[in-house]
Formats: sequence, structure tokens, C-alpha cells
Amino acid sequence: MTTKIKPQQNTTFKREVTEGLTNFPKRLSSKYFYDKKGDKIFLDIMAMPSYYLTGCEFEIISNNIFTIGELFRDSKNGLDLIELGAGDGKKTKVLLKYMAENNFNFTYKPIDISENAVELLSNNLAHEMPTLTVDAEVGEYFEVLERLKGFNKRKKVIMVLGSNIGNLPHPKAIEFLTKLKDAMLPEDLLFMGFDQKKNPQTILDAYNDETGITEAFNKNILTRINRELGGNFEIDNFKHWEVYDPETGTAKSFLVAIKAMKVTIEQLQLTVNFEQWETIHTEISQKYDDKTVSWIAEEAGLEIETYYTDDKEYYKNYVFRKA
Ligand code: AVI
Repeated sequence: MTTKIKPQQNTTFKREVTEGLTNFPKRLSSKYFYDKKGDKIFLDIMAMPSYYLTGCEFEIISNNIFTIGELFRDSKNGLDLIELGAGDGKKTKVLLKYMAENNFNFTYKPIDISENAVELLSNNLAHEMPTLTVDAEVGEYFEVLERLKGFNKRKKVIMVLGSNIGNLPHPKAIEFLTKLKDAMLPEDLLFMGFDQKKNPQTILDAYNDETGITEAFNKNILTRINRELGGNFEIDNFKHWEVYDPETGTAKSFLVAIKAMKVTIEQLQLTVNFEQWETIHTEISQKYDDKTVSWIAEEAGLEIETYYTDDKEYYKNYVFRKA
């Protein structure tokens, strides 16, 4: 299947690329990493030992499967399990399996910005767990949140795994959590993964692998502009650069121009000038501590019910309720 770009999405892409590349400093949103090729590279990232996040979250869910599963259960009416940013569902499958094998009455609703990822996951689940009721959807987080309010007939558990919230700066994260809270009823739960502050070197290594996988992921945004908008970026003229600020807990990804150049993007009728060493900021990956999670939760009107962590305390999955 090829990833179809809806006209509305294409207009937003065009507008945001124009704004981002005519701004100073230049920036592009990491949400554009995820096309068919980007999804594939992200799977490779999740399989890298240095990208510890996936392994930690898998360990947390596997080691606490009974407690987490039973916290989610509603014996009377069953539940809707809604996952935002579902990806390949590797970690979720542990939970789905437990629920399917222990007589839960539930519908699994995976939602992802990538049509390709949603299609792959649906096909995979139809094959691996044919009795499961799956109702998948393609959409951006903020637009999907509006529709979540319609799920009010029975308990819902909303899951956001993979520290996806970390790709939002704090004000946006609070806005996101607030919208989630607005869609929740008192019995609903929010189960969310937050990567934790730790040895800065461990964090840098996760986003700076020697094999160049993360570099290819970061540069995929330029490949996409070339393909979808008629750009002529020479990808090798850019260097992937990662920094981590241990004070704020923010990891930042950049593409740095290694020489002065002009890039034209036909469909935008735009010529972009780069000076040597000029940057394009592409992504933040926020790292958290308990204080910061408590603060953003409180700002959003959420209450922490409990949390689970891995052996090294690298990563935490928090359970929130509406305050
Ligand atoms: C999806 N997101 C939480 C990943 C992260 O860790 O920020 C994306 C990623 N970027 C580089 N490596 C992985």
C-alpha cells in the first residue's frame, strides 16, 4: 500500500514547510518524519539497543501485566482501549494478549498519524489475534482528541506509549493532556509513557547511533520535501546533530548545513538560502522527572493514580485520572 496524502494534510505540510524554512532559526516539525520510509526507519530505531525506551516500556508492561490489566478491567460494561500513536503495537500486544486470554470485553482502537502504520497494525492483528475487535483510525493527535469525547458509553482507557508526549514542548504537552482530560469521564484512565532524566550520555547515545539510523530518520524530512514538494535538497550537505540539556531534560535534533547553498522547492515556489553551519531544528525529545510530570498533570487537571518503572528506572508509565 502507498501512503495517500489527503489534500488538507498536503496544504498543512506546504504551509508549515514554508513557514519553517523562511523563519530564523529554521525549523521543521518531527511529525513529518513519519511516511512509509520514516515508519520503517523508526522500527529500526526501536530495535537498536542504544534506543533503550522501547525495551524499558516492554519490560514495564510485561512485568506488571496482571496489575495493569486488572486496573483497566470493567467487569460490568467492558471498555474501549484507545491508543494514540499506536505504531507497530509491539508493546501493546502484550496487554491485548492478556486481555483477550482473560475474558475482557473490549474494543481496541489504535489511532496513528501514519496511514501506513495503521494499515500494517490492523493487518497484523487480524492475522495474529483474529478474535480481537479492532477499530483503527488515521489522524493527528489534536484532531482525534475532539472525537474521543464521543466514547462515553462505557469506561475508556487511553494509552499513549513510547514517550510520544516528549515530542511536545511543555505548553503543548499541557494542552494535549488538558484535551485528554476533557474527553475523560471519572472512571476513565490515561496510561502514558514518560522517558526519564538519566545519565546524559545514555540519552545522547539513544539519539546519536553510529550506524546512522537516527541520522537517516532525521534526514527523511528532507527526502520527503524533495519527493512530495519538488525540493532539491542534497541530503549529504546536512549533518545530523543531537544535543541534550540535563538541566531542562530536553534533547534536541538538528540538521546542520555543512556548506552554504541554495535549495529550491518547486511546489512552494520557494528558494531557501543556507549559510554554512546554519541549522534546521527538527525535533525535541523531552525527558522527565516526577516533579515535572506532577506539574504538567496538575496544570492539565489530571491526578496521578500510580506509576510503574523498569529495573534501571530509565522510564515510567503513569496512570492518570481526571482530578
Ligand atoms: C516517537 N518519539 C517519541 C521518538 C523520540 O524518542 O523522540 C522519535 C525518535 N526520534 C529519534 N529517535 C526516536
